[in-house]
This record gives sequence, structure tokens and C-alpha cells, in this order.
Amino acid sequence: GGTYPIQVRCLTAYNGHFLAVLVFKFTKESGESFRILRFVVAIAETQLAKDLGPSAPFQHYQDSLQRPITVHIEDGIPPDSSLKNELEREIPLGTYQYPKHIKDAILQGTNCSDMNDIPAAHSSLLEEPLQTDNYHEKFQLLLYLEEIQMEVDIRRYDMQDVTMVQDRGLLVLDVPGVAENRPSVLRGDHLFAQLSSERDRSPVVQYRGYVHSVELDKVKLGFSPKLLSKFVNNLKFDVTFTFNRLPLQVQHRAAALAMPRGLSSLLFPSASYHQSLFTGPFQPRWFDRKLQANEEQCRAVTHIVTGVSRPAPYLIFGPPGTGKTVTVVEAIKQVWTNFKDARILACAPSNSAADLLCQRLITDIAPRNIYRLIASSRNYKEVPADIRPCCNWDDEQSSYVYPSKEYLKRYRILITTLVTAGRLVSANFPPGFFSHVFIDECGHAVEPESVVAIAGLLTPMDQKTNPNGGQLVLAGDPKQLGPVLTSPLATEHGLGTSLLERLMLHNPLYEKSSKGYNPQFVTKLLWNYR
Ligand SMILES: Nc1ncnc2c1ncn2[C@@H]1O[C@H](COP(=O)(O)OP(=O)(O)OP(=O)(O)O)[C@@H](O)[C@H]1O
Ligand SMILES: [Mg+2]
Repeated sequence: GGTYPIQVRCLTAYNGHFLAVLVFKFTKESGESFRILRFVVAIAETQLAKDLGPSAPFQHYQDSLQRPITVHIEDGIPPDSSLKNELEREIPLGTYQYPKHIKDAILQGTNCSDMNDIPAAHSSLLEEPLQTDNYHEKFQLLLYLEEIQMEVDIRRYDMQDVTMVQDRGLLVLDVPGVAENRPSVLRGDHLFAQLSSERDRSPVVQYRGYVHSVELDKVKLGFSPKLLSKFVNNLKFDVTFTFNRLPLQVQHRAAALAMPRGLSSLLFPSASYHQSLFTGPFQPRWFDRKLQANEEQCRAVTHIVTGVSRPAPYLIFGPPGTGKTVTVVEAIKQVWTNFKDARILACAPSNSAADLLCQRLITDIAPRNIYRLIASSRNYKEVPADIRPCCNWDDEQSSYVYPSKEYLKRYRILITTLVTAGRLVSANFPPGFFSHVFIDECGHAVEPESVVAIAGLLTPMDQKTNPNGGQLVLAGDPKQLGPVLTSPLATEHGLGTSLLERLMLHNPLYEKSSKGYNPQFVTKLLWNYR
């Protein structure tokens, strides 16, 4: 019946749970022996591990998903109530929701990048090469897959038990990472907040909060007065983010419009009419004298201005800093000078690249001749000062405006991002109104995004009905990082290839022969000026 305290010391270089068995062996005076076993556990952990430990009992994820919850949405207050929008909406924009069975099939699968997870009819469409007769269907499916993945990915930004602070009529939420677009939140977007205390309740009220502004890592939100009336500083919320579907919608519409609008000769070109817009030779007075020293750049500008690739697009490609943008800008200036009835749409995937086109054009063309149409989601503080005179900001109202089609028709040069060109599509400009469409940084855009600026805006050249128009120019670097996408399935089956890259890889007109590229259709720039 004696007691013997025993001290056990464990030394470890690692953190974790360590199991050990202690065996005590005793021998009686008679020589007979017996053993006593004790199981011991040593836990080595740091303060950080403790801090990161669970704060509530584990609950299986599926459990909470399968519980039926009734959700009431309480709408918030959007910004822009003063936005003057006179731009017509004659071509409808659908919602283009994906069929639920595709999402169910993908989410039931083991991972979202597996072809086996999607129905057979869809997987065979994905395997088919892109053609005129599957153009709409294939891009529609690829955009569905991309959206489904975006929905999965955005869940990782959801927040629980967060507080907000009130700033006049708005609530301010800290969103670390929002400055780096993680998650991407723009003015006019919305998110949902619900009271954390009601998390397990049904019905639950979800308050829609519209983003009024984004400042560093803070988002200012407009919620319904109902929420504001019960708001106190320590009230805890669960926040769910959403993404803006407009870019997907305009791409769906572009893919649907492409073939009915007769774009096969532009998107799947097979030949040119070899018809020049000049009777004699083109002898320009160069705006950018530097170009004269570079034969490839001069040749590209000449071929674009004379229009000899039409109806096929003209391609300019090359590594960074080789003068693609200056070549595009020179070509726009030459078209503007040489053809008084030319109407030019200049686009790029990003605001910054569209701004750059505008900045370089106004060095030689007075700003009153150029209109830079900017989406109202953009913070006006980010618009470079030198292009502000050309853009759709109304100082008096302190807001963007979308002027009417009649107003925009006065400008011979319009500059937008590819997605915002969708607004021009909705406005339904007369066929052949735009004679030239230029897309810079085309390698960064998915094909349907580039097609937004083409389908419904550019009519292919036709010797009888459209002899002077239909010029498409694509510039970019297909070797650089391509479009940014989330779905591996969509990336692999065609959405990861830009229009520029597809034409270069799969169309014989742009193939490199033993004599090099055919300068009537394509120019490769090689000389790095940076
Ligand atoms: N022929 C030339 N002679 C001298 N400088 C040139 C010439 N062409 C372009 N540059 C200069 O090279 C720089 C890069 O040109 P630009 O921006 O057009 O290149 P880019 O190919 O569009 O680059 P990125 O891939 O980054 O878009 C500019 O400063 C431009 O003025
Ligand atoms: Mg460039």
C-alpha cells in the first residue's frame, strides 16, 4: 500500500501528441515478478497552436448545408442613385444562369477539375475544337464552368463574428485583402450580412449591403434602414461575399451574337479580298517619328490603314516593350487622319491599358474628339488627370454619366474596356457604324471578352455592303501570362486561350512559313525598347 512518486520527463524537438507506455517491473522476495503498465501522453505545443485551436465543437460541413433554412433578403441602398444613364438598352442582356444539374454534377464529383464529373454530352463538347457551329454552345458551357468555380472560390472569403462601425448612413466593414482584390469588391457590388446570433435560426434575415466605396482594406456599405435602426457597435455579423455577374453576362451575349452577326469571316478568317483603301501608295506623315526607324512597325501601320487583311483581323504580337501599343496608337491616328468617315473603337481588358491608349492618342488628337467611357464602378480618383477631359465624369453631379447614343455618335474615337464595350452593344449602334476596332493587350482577355467589343459593334468587310469598314486589329503578347481564370476545366478546354493566341496557333493565315510571317496579316515585333 506504499506510494512512490515518479517523475517522467520528455524532451522533444517537435510539437504534437506523443504516446508512451511505462512499464514498472516488480520482483517479490520469493523471486516471482509482476508488471504494472501505465499509458502516458505528452503534449508539446506552442502558444500559437493554442491560439489557433478550435473555438467550438466540430460540426460536419454537410450537416449545416443540408439543414433547410428559409432566407429573407432585406435589400440595402445602392450607390449611384444620381447616375445619369441616357444610353439606350435596345439589345437585351439576359441573365444566362447555368443549369443547376451541371453544378450538382461538378460538386458531387471528387474535384472540380475532373472531366468525369460532368455529363457526357458536355464533356464531348469540351473536347471538340472550336468551330463556327459550336461557337456559342462551347463558350456558353465554358463560362458556366468558370462561374461555378468562381462561386466555390468566393466562399473562402466569408467571415464570421465580425463587427462594423457606423459612418453616417453607411456601415464600414474591414475586409483585409480587398486592396489586392482578394476578394474583388467594386463600387456597386453587394454582399450579405446576417446577425451571427441568428446563425442557426430559420427563417433568417440576410441584409444586402451595397458597396458605396472601397478604401484600402475597408468597404463602406449601404444597408436597409431596418438594420441601421438596430445597429450597435458590438453587433456581430456573418458576411457572405458575391461577385458581379455583368462581365459574365456580356460575354455570354457576345458568344451568342457572334455567328448570327456574321462574324465567321472575322473569327475564323480564311482569306482576304486584298483590297486597299488607297488607290495609290500610302505615304503617311508619321505622328511618332521613332517608328520610321523600325521597318516592322511601319509595315504593320501601313497594312492596317490600307485595310488589306480584311475581313481577316490584323495581328501585332511580340514580347513586352517591343512597341505594340505605339504601333496601335499610330495606326489609330493614321486612320483618324486619312478617313474622315472612320469610326474607331479602341479597347483593352483593363482600365489602365485603356487609359494608356487614351493618353497616347491625346498627344496628337485634341481631347474633344475622343470619348473615354468609364464604368461607374471605377473610383474616379484612379482616373489619370490628363484623360479626365475626355471621360464621362460629370463634375456638377460628382458622378459618371452614360450619354445617349446620339451624343456618343459625335465622337470618332471611343475608348472603353472590353466589358464596358458591352454597354455600346446594348445601345445598338447601326450596323457598320464602327469601321475599326482595336484591342490592345488582347492576350490577357478570354476570347468571349474580346468578342464583346466586336459582336454587335463591328460588321465584317463586304465588298458590296461594307467596303470601307470591318477592320479588326488585335495586339498583345500570347506568350505572357494569359487570361486570369479560376476553373481548371474551362482553362484547359479553350477559355485559357485568348482570341489572339487561338488565331496564331490554329489559323493558317497567321502561321509562320519558311519565309516568316505573312506581313499582310500579322507583324511580330522583336526589338525591345525598354
Ligand atoms: N520604334 C521605336 N523607337 C524607339 N522607341 C520605341 C519604338 N517603338 C516603341 N518605342 C518605345 O518603347 C516603349 C515601349 O513601347 P510600347 O508600350 O508600345 O510597348 P508594348 O510592346 O506595347 O509593351 P507591353 O508589352 O508592355 O504592352 C515606349 O516607351 C515606346 O516609346
Ligand atoms: Mg502595350
